[in-house]
Amino acid sequence: MMPAASLELAVLHAEVRGCTKCSLHATRTQAVPGVGPCPADVMIVGEAPGFNEDRQGEPFVGPAGKLLDTLLSRIGLSRADVYITNVLKCRPPQNRDPMPNEAEACEPYLQRQLKLLQPKVVLILGRHALERLLPGQGSISRIHGSLVMRGDIAYVPLYHPAAALHNGSLVSDLERDFDSVRKYLDRFLAPPPPPEPEPERQEAEQLRLL
Ligand code: URA
Ligand code: SF4
Repeated sequence: MMPAASLELAVLHAEVRGCTKCSLHATRTQAVPGVGPCPADVMIVGEAPGFNEDRQGEPFVGPAGKLLDTLLSRIGLSRADVYITNVLKCRPPQNRDPMPNEAEACEPYLQRQLKLLQPKVVLILGRHALERLLPGQGSISRIHGSLVMRGDIAYVPLYHPAAALHNGSLVSDLERDFDSVRKYLDRFLAPPPPPEPEPERQEAEQLRLL
């Protein structure tokens, strides 16, 4: 049987595919709700679908996605390990920036995804996702690679891979920041320590050894 959260996420994906809450529904080929396991320890949030994502219905399948895959494999992760989505679920025409009214209309989906996925670590790709998830935190150029705790969730703002494709000097920043992400994951996804053996069990063990 499908656990409740996965079922609810499937319902949310279907809702997104039929959504007409902002004008982007009129120009999309299809909506791109998100993809990955549920629950997911690691969630990645980008800006909006581009040309390829709009055609294929999956996030980060174009050139920026290839760079993201390389960065993930650098720290031992693959797509199967992470849930990936965007602030906007539909492509803005000509890949223009999201407009505030579109981001607001789409925000409830992102908030519901956060609740259902229960991520421990959220990677924020680029300034639009930063504005939505950590409003007022300052610019991406200042806080990229750092750790921002909000409740039980560790947020890591990062440059958007598409920005690095336009400005090659950001690639090394992204690589260094992903190395920091690996350290954060080691800290936040560490398996819980094994339980202390109960006193009676300890005694029984000692007797058995005699
Ligand atoms: N850029 C994004 O922000 N999201 C995608 O899904 C693809 C490119
Ligand atoms: Fe709905 Fe979001 Fe698509 Fe707008 S961008 S139509 S709010 S799913």
